Amino acid sequence: MDLNQFLGLFFFVLVVNCNPGPLADIVVDRYEIPKVCSREVQTEDFIRYHFNGSFYEDGKKFDSSYDRGKAFVSQVGLGRLITGMDRGLLGMCVNERRRITVPPHLGYGSVGTGGLIPPDATLVYDVLLLDIWNAEDKVEIRTISKPAICKRTTVASDFIRYHYNGTLLSGEAFDSSYSRNTTYDTYLGQGDLIKGMDEGLVGMCVGERRIIIVPPFLAYGETGHGTKIPPQATLVFEVLLVDVFNPKDDVTAEVTKMPKNCSRRTVTGDYIRYHYNGTFQDGTFFDSSYQRNSTYNTYIGMGYVIHGMDKALQGLCTGEKRRITIPPHMAYGEKGAGNLIPGSAVLIFDIHVIDFHNPKDPVKIRVTHKPQECNTTSEADDLIHYRYNCSLMDGTLLYSS
Ligand SMILES: *[C@@H]1O[C@H](CO)[C@@H](O)[C@H](O)[C@H]1NC(C)=O
Ligand SMILES: *[C@@H]1O[C@H](CO)[C@@H](O)[C@H](O)[C@H]1NC(C)=O
Ligand SMILES: *[C@@H]1O[C@H](CO)[C@@H](O)[C@H](O)[C@H]1NC(C)=O
Ligand SMILES: *[C@@H]1O[C@H](CO)[C@@H](O)[C@H](O)[C@H]1NC(C)=O
Ligand SMILES: *[C@@H]1O[C@H](CO)[C@@H](O)[C@H](O)[C@H]1NC(C)=O
Ligand SMILES: *[C@@H]1O[C@H](CO)[C@@H](O)[C@H](O)[C@H]1NC(C)=O
Ligand SMILES: *[C@@H]1O[C@H](CO)[C@@H](O)[C@H](O)[C@H]1NC(C)=O
Ligand SMILES: *[C@@H]1O[C@H](CO)[C@@H](O)[C@H](O)[C@H]1NC(C)=O
Repeated sequence: MDLNQFLGLFFFVLVVNCNPGPLADIVVDRYEIPKVCSREVQTEDFIRYHFNGSFYEDGKKFDSSYDRGKAFVSQVGLGRLITGMDRGLLGMCVNERRRITVPPHLGYGSVGTGGLIPPDATLVYDVLLLDIWNAEDKVEIRTISKPAICKRTTVASDFIRYHYNGTLLSGEAFDSSYSRNTTYDTYLGQGDLIKGMDEGLVGMCVGERRIIIVPPFLAYGETGHGTKIPPQATLVFEVLLVDVFNPKDDVTAEVTKMPKNCSRRTVTGDYIRYHYNGTFQDGTFFDSSYQRNSTYNTYIGMGYVIHGMDKALQGLCTGEKRRITIPPHMAYGEKGAGNLIPGSAVLIFDIHVIDFHNPKDPVKIRVTHKPQECNTTSEADDLIHYRYNCSLMDGTLLYSS
């Protein structure tokens, strides 16, 4: 290398350091990068961001999204922004703060713009990124936890009850079912929800937790919603499914214990005594006969109990145990029952049949032993002596001579 050339280069660097002329390119200072960054801004992405724009020279503000009262939305990399910003915003994460210094030839050039930006101005943008999405985005589902046993998953036309925490992509909360102390209850896949949720809630098990990320065009779009959801906001729902049924559901029963002997099964009109534990689909307990130290006793099929139970109590054996699932339209419906049963709740009863009889039953006699010689049989007015054991149908001994 020629020594002159070398000195010249050296000199040039010094000059730049002492008297900064126009920059050759943008300068990006990422001064606050979040620990978690699952997505970086790419060309053609839409972004929503806050910014303060000031002049490099004197630090005076020329524009700010805060003064406009709302974050700025634009598509990146397609010339909708000045070139310096189109490039300076690339690779940015949500919640990142960066400073982009834009030389005039990548900003408003030697012309400037309408009195706002003078010619040959170097601009400094402080940017806080709030949201990223792309027209190609789909609803994103991240499963957090799923119960080991899942016999049923949600499909369109199901009625579901779930809890959720809703936040913007920046983490700012906008709504939560917990704030109302009640689940969010709705039909699925019938347009009652925003599109993204109608999609994102499909295929869930009761007890499953998932995160559903909904791009703005499948949520509240350009208008936003209420005071908490700004226009063009991606929504993040953390969801816990509590309950599901379909209006077409019937009562279902699963035999959990069948006695060896079953000579007779319950029919309409029988009087039954049974124990039960009542829970919701998520396992939450709501009632039990054991708590009262007494069986629940009722006639079957005569409307004394909820419709679903009347149906489920048919065809049972003494000693049998069943798990009975009753959809709300065959239980307490949309209203529920007091503080005990929320509206539209599916009920699960684990029942144990203690005994049953029919009021028309005659006295039943079964001879278990008879002596070979039997010349005299008892008659009315005879005085007799006998021993006895008295027990319930399930074998519980009540008393004995
Ligand atoms: C813009 O300036 C305001 C007021 O100084 C400040 O609160 C805000 O954090 C700044 N925003 C960015 C993106 O730097
Ligand atoms: C929810 O329950 C809590 C505690 O039971 C109570 O303090 C709060 O007022 C309730 N909120 C609503 C909206 O009912
Ligand atoms: C919602 O947030 C609360 C408080 O952080 C938490 O206890 C609850 O589990 C969250 N629920 C869901 C469905 O994420
Ligand atoms: C069950 O049936 C068998 C044979 O029919 C009989 O020996 C037994 O005593 C019966 N047990 C009960 C508990 O009824
Ligand atoms: C049921 O019995 C248990 C134990 O004998 C007793 O502690 C409890 O108080 C009883 N409950 C009712 C409702 O009678
Ligand atoms: C009800 O729950 C109690 C306590 O967990 C249990 O001992 C009993 O066997 C249950 N009954 C039925 C019918 O499942
Ligand atoms: C019963 O009758 C038979 C004949 O009919 C007789 O042989 C027997 O001795 C009688 N037994 C008793 C205990 O009276
Ligand atoms: C009553 O039960 C006891 C004990 O199991 C038995 O020894 C006795 O033979 C029974 N008595 C009758 C009349 O069945």
